[in-house]
Amino acid sequence: MKDVYLLAIESSCDETAASVVKNGDTIVSSIVSSQIDVHKRFGGVVPEVASRIHVENVSWVIREAMEQADMKYSDLDGICVTQGPGLIGSLHVGVQAAKTLAYVHDLPLIPVHHISGHIYANQFVDPITYPMLALVVSGGHTELVWMKEEYSFEIIGTTQDDAVGEAYDKVARVLGLPYPGGPQIDRLAKEGTNRYPLPKPHTENPTDFSFSGLKSAVIQSLQRLERRNEELNKADMACSFQEAALGELWNRVEYALNEYKPAHFVIAGGVAANSRLRQLITENMKAYPDITYTIPPLKYCTDNAAMIGASGYHAYTKGIFASEDLGAKPSLDLEQVGKF
Ligand code: KG4
Ligand code: ZN
Repeated sequence: MKDVYLLAIESSCDETAASVVKNGDTIVSSIVSSQIDVHKRFGGVVPEVASRIHVENVSWVIREAMEQADMKYSDLDGICVTQGPGLIGSLHVGVQAAKTLAYVHDLPLIPVHHISGHIYANQFVDPITYPMLALVVSGGHTELVWMKEEYSFEIIGTTQDDAVGEAYDKVARVLGLPYPGGPQIDRLAKEGTNRYPLPKPHTENPTDFSFSGLKSAVIQSLQRLERRNEELNKADMACSFQEAALGELWNRVEYALNEYKPAHFVIAGGVAANSRLRQLITENMKAYPDITYTIPPLKYCTDNAAMIGASGYHAYTKGIFASEDLGAKPSLDLEQVGKF
C-alpha cells in the first residue's frame, strides 16, 4: 500500500501543535508551542488568552512542521484536526486553520477526537493489539476506555466529579505550587513520605472514579494543621495525596483487567507522564504476563499533534472525512467516533 502522509493540527487547550505523521505510526515532524509560561501567571488556563495565543502561533507552528518534514502540501494525503473536546475558542483556531489548508490544497479534512489521539499516541511505541484497555488520565479526563477493535471506543469507567489531573492541579495550588501542579507534585512527592491519612473514595460502579473527596480531604487537613499551629510538610502531603490518587487509579484498572481480560493495556494523557504512576504500572503489570502493556514516552503523554495524526490515520483508512461545514465541538463524544 502507498504510504500515507497526514498533517495534523492540535489546539484544544494551551498547546498549539502541528505534526506530519507517516502511516499513523512514524513521526516525520512534530512542533509543540506551549503557553504554560503565560497561564502560570494566572494559576491556570485562561480560555480567552489561550485562543488569542493560538491565533498568533498557529501559522508558524504549521509552517515549521512542514519545513522540518521537508514536505510540500502536494506530498500530503490529508489534514487532521482536533475537533473536540476542549476549549471552544482554542478549538476554533485549529479547525479553521485546517479547513482553510484543506480547501486551498484540495486535501481531505479529517476530524479527530482529542482523547482518541492520546490513546493512539501509544502506536508510536508498539503496534496496538485488540481488545485493548486504555487508562486515560489528563487535566480534563479520567476514563477507562475499552476498544474491542480498531477505532471503536467504549467508555467503561469515568470520573463522577474531578479529573485526576484537575485534582493534582488543585491540590498543588493549595500547597502554593505553580501551575501546572501535576509535575510539581510528582517531583515533591519523591522527597516525602505517605503519612497524612486521606480517605479512599467510594463509587457505585467499580470502574468509575472520584477525586473531589480526596481534594477536599487535603484542604481540610491543611486547615486542621493550621488551626493546631502544626507545621505542614508539603512533600509529605504531596506524597500522601499522590499515593491515594494513584492507588485509586490502579484499583479500578486492576478490576477492569480481571473483568475484561484485554490483550493490550495502555496509559494515555498528561498524568501518564507521572513517574510514580509509571513505576506502579510497571510493577503491577508483572502479575499479568499475558497482557502486553505500553507506557508512552513523556513527550507523547502531554498534548501534541503527532497523536492526532496517529488517530487520524485510522479515520483516513476508514474513509471518515469532514465536510466543509465542520465546526469545533467542545464536548465531542468519544463513543460516537468511528460510528458512521
Ligand atoms: O493531556 P494534557 O496535556 O492536557 C489535557 O488534555 O488535559 O494533561 C494535562 C494534565 C494537567 O492536569 C497536568 O497537571 C497533568 O496533566 N500532568 C501531570 C504530570 N505532567 C502533567 N500530573 C501528574 N504528574 C505529572 N508528571
Ligand atoms: Zn490532552
